[in-house]
Amino acid sequence: MGEVDPAFIQDTQHRPKLAVIEAESIPLIDLSSAKASNHVSQIADACKNWGFFQVINHGVPSESRRKIEDAARKFFALPLEEKRKVSRDEVNPMGYFDTEHTKNVRDWKEVFDHVVSSPAFIPASPDPDDKELKELINQWPQYPPELREVCEEYAREMEKLAFKLLGLISLSLGLPENRFNLFFEESANFIRLNHYPPCPIPHLALGVGRHKDGVALTILAQDDVGGLQVKLKTNGEWVRVKPTPDTYIINVGDIVQVWSNDTYESVEHRVMMNSEWERFSISFFFSPGHHVWVKPLEELTKGEEPKYRAYNWGKFFVTRRRSSFKKLDVENLQISHFKVSE
Ligand code: OGA
Ligand code: NI
Repeated sequence: MGEVDPAFIQDTQHRPKLAVIEAESIPLIDLSSAKASNHVSQIADACKNWGFFQVINHGVPSESRRKIEDAARKFFALPLEEKRKVSRDEVNPMGYFDTEHTKNVRDWKEVFDHVVSSPAFIPASPDPDDKELKELINQWPQYPPELREVCEEYAREMEKLAFKLLGLISLSLGLPENRFNLFFEESANFIRLNHYPPCPIPHLALGVGRHKDGVALTILAQDDVGGLQVKLKTNGEWVRVKPTPDTYIINVGDIVQVWSNDTYESVEHRVMMNSEWERFSISFFFSPGHHVWVKPLEELTKGEEPKYRAYNWGKFFVTRRRSSFKKLDVENLQISHFKVSE
């Protein structure tokens, strides 16, 4: 990335402290069936108090993770001009991208995005009156040739795990296990391969700036370098999520926050850089179909006012997506913009 572009520099109050507190205790949930009687209450506690947890014995074969990690490493090692042959742009939002902005500051990373099921559709524009849809088309590079297959295999595993977690979250809110499933018909789940090159200015820049995930759930595989930080709900401190082999990190996204009428909260997180090691991670974003109107569930608002007005997921997604391309002068779209004033 050569000369440091000022677009990477975080405002003073958002710069990371290089000595960080290690979170030993982000909840670790053992998903093996022998422990099934504890799952629902553990998920309830984790979602309420942390918004983040890790899972082990999750059923995803370690082989399938190893294969996608190897292929991602090979892809990102290609010369820039090769990677740019599959660049994402304003017309096709899937592919390679190295100038993402989070909250209008550039991230120290490069990514490769692909959608999981096909065909998958999103609105053609953020304009609420424009009913046109656009199909999301994946762009696969020539090298490594196995990338497509390993991504597709990993995606199937992620979807299975995501539905298992969704069922547990639903039960933990006192709802039937399949209460949310209908929303995920025609979903446009996507996977993002992340590569964070070593950064000469880890005190000034971030791999991903602070943000909340707009989706329902995120399943993250981080490597053993680490760098993910979560903002504690209790005191607002940033803590590091220590890498644990063969676990996945799960976080509740904005949609679950709205469905649950703020019982569960989508928590801010970011990625801190280091000057020595490159880091890889894989995010699976689990999201409803574009036509879904997201609003607090009636069963969960009995006796109290819904805290949010309904919003259309597809329009929300494309509006957000547009803001990640360049530095804009306005804050990007947040669920707080749909909050009913109290
Ligand atoms: C994300 C994200 C964290 C990481 O992709 O939304 O928060 O560790 N990634 O890559
Ligand atoms: Ni995130």
